[in-house]
Amino acid sequence: MTDIVHVPLGDRAYDVVIGPGLVKAADRHVQPFLARPKVWIVTERNVAALHLDTLQGALSGGGIASEALVLEPGEATKNWDNLQHVADWLLSEKVERRDIVIAFGGGVIGDLVGFAAAIHRRGIRFVQIPTSLLAQVDSSVGGKTGINTAHGKNLIGAFHQPALVLADIAVLGTLTPRDFRAGYGEVAKYGLLGDADFFAWLEANGPALAAGDLDLRQEAVRRSVQMKADIVVRDETEQGDRALLNLGHTFCHALEAATGYSDRLLHGEGVAIGCALAFELSARLGLCPQEDPSRVRAHLADMQMLRDLRDIKGDLPDAHTLLDLMGQDKKVIDGQLRFILARGIGAAFVTSDVPRDQVRNLLSEQLADR
Ligand code: GLY
Repeated sequence: MTDIVHVPLGDRAYDVVIGPGLVKAADRHVQPFLARPKVWIVTERNVAALHLDTLQGALSGGGIASEALVLEPGEATKNWDNLQHVADWLLSEKVERRDIVIAFGGGVIGDLVGFAAAIHRRGIRFVQIPTSLLAQVDSSVGGKTGINTAHGKNLIGAFHQPALVLADIAVLGTLTPRDFRAGYGEVAKYGLLGDADFFAWLEANGPALAAGDLDLRQEAVRRSVQMKADIVVRDETEQGDRALLNLGHTFCHALEAATGYSDRLLHGEGVAIGCALAFELSARLGLCPQEDPSRVRAHLADMQMLRDLRDIKGDLPDAHTLLDLMGQDKKVIDGQLRFILARGIGAAFVTSDVPRDQVRNLLSEQLADR
């Protein structure tokens, strides 16, 4: 059974199709979008080894020819060089305005290929086939595309909505447990930011979902994508509410920078720690019930996820440096740090009104506890 979440954005509206076996059925889903029976796939080596034959086999079974460009896996791929590489490839392949490019991989591939599609011949349509949990519940939906530069992550990019998203739940079975759990950080984020019932559902079902239950995985992806779609429709270009999706991210971005965007801390792991810190800060500021931060951490513990600064291996800089790193965040306006805080589980809001001392104290205490 597949679920469909429609993202009603006028002439940029699209469906997110969610269910097992969608890669094998890609021809049927992609066919209605084709002006001619050929597509161009951009993917990375690990995903290609596991799933590219299945995708290309399905397409050719449906009479659709395909060419594939295989990049190196990892965050470092999302750079100027690879943007140029993909852009040149699309030109050398003579991809036309009405053609479709498929981004087949996790968030790195989705963001890079989405951006290449946004600028190729001033914009062509692309299909996201996200293969990581993080990409299925977050980055493949909502049209944020871009690359990292020496100045920071995702600072160069464009809003460019996909024409279709195929979230194949069965593909999640090939993720490492660590990658799956990192993606789960973004799932928990949705419950924490806007849906207390969903968070309670995750408390009840999270462990079985992590153990591999496909129906529970599909339900978690469906509810996450529905929440994301609702927020994106309210605020496509992040003038307001969309910033709620960044719950935990101000802390996370500083921690990712402090750990050199390395394997020491995956993005979703940083989001989970950042959510726990955001609730701790909210409780200290008297905004949310005192028991909420413990409840957040208890759930992350049940899911065997990182939740405190002490869970990050190796050295971390001091609280001053972490605060400075937060100052690089895209959400800074007029030099003011903006945080997503919460009045309770499922009730996040955006604020610039956070005393720096309180943030510094919280970080210092957690660092001293390492
Ligand atoms: N990942 C946050 C957003 O799409 O706005």
